[in-house]
Amino acid sequence: MLKVKNVDVSYGASQALYDVSMDAEIGKVTCVLGRNGVGKTTLMKALSGHLSAGKGQIEWMGKDINGQAPFDRARQGIAYVPQGRDIFSQLTVEENLETAFSALPKSQRKIDPEIFALFPVLQKMLKRRGGDLSGGQQQQLAIARALLLRPKMLILDEPTEGIQPSVIKDIGKVIELLRDRGEMAIVLVEQYLEFAAELADEFIILERGRVVATGSGDELATSEQAKELLAI
Ligand SMILES: Nc1ncnc2c1ncn2[C@@H]1O[C@H](COP(=O)(O)OP(=O)(O)OP(=O)(O)O)[C@@H](O)[C@H]1O
Ligand SMILES: [Mg+2]
Repeated sequence: MLKVKNVDVSYGASQALYDVSMDAEIGKVTCVLGRNGVGKTTLMKALSGHLSAGKGQIEWMGKDINGQAPFDRARQGIAYVPQGRDIFSQLTVEENLETAFSALPKSQRKIDPEIFALFPVLQKMLKRRGGDLSGGQQQQLAIARALLLRPKMLILDEPTEGIQPSVIKDIGKVIELLRDRGEMAIVLVEQYLEFAAELADEFIILERGRVVATGSGDELATSEQAKELLAI
């Protein structure tokens, strides 16, 4: 479904990704791992359209989308939850959710109650401002907003970063549930091997902008190479 082939990405004269290839399939969690600064976020931005690849192809549903704007990709079912969450702190939870609507046809512009089944805390906090939520609640809000797009691919950039363990567990459960429904590809950026190994069907590890290891989720749990590459 997603096929990234031999992609290079640069910030001006400074190259951040070299010859990166990866796939992500509907119904699977594909984990992108690697230490700080190896290029994980750069790769996610190339998938979401916030950056363009200077070389290579990014194919989604058989079509090269490299060069398309984020908004156009969102309309093709690609939803991106950026690192640091990026919710609007002055808007209420409800208004934050509604910001997803601009990429949806009018008939679909309502908050699916299912969102509150996944994230009950958001229903309780609908009228609160985004800035009043804890980090974990903000992360759940950001994921909920992405899900309102009814994505075919959900990109999560370090959803567990700086979040308390109980909420990490809840987020893990939601990711599993979404995977098991088989309606979307999930691309999950993680630095924590344990969390990734529990969820991953496939993985890639980046090191200095290059893919240095790939494999199945089962292999990740026992991979000595992964342990070495991810040790801080
Ligand atoms: N806007 C930018 N301009 C120039 N260089 C950048 C920019 N953003 C990132 N970089 C560089 O690109 C490289 C990859 O950064 P990136 O943010 O993709 O890493 P990351 O793996 O997501 O790191 P982290 O785990 O800290 O989130 C780093 O060397 C970083 O300094
Ligand atoms: Mg990052």
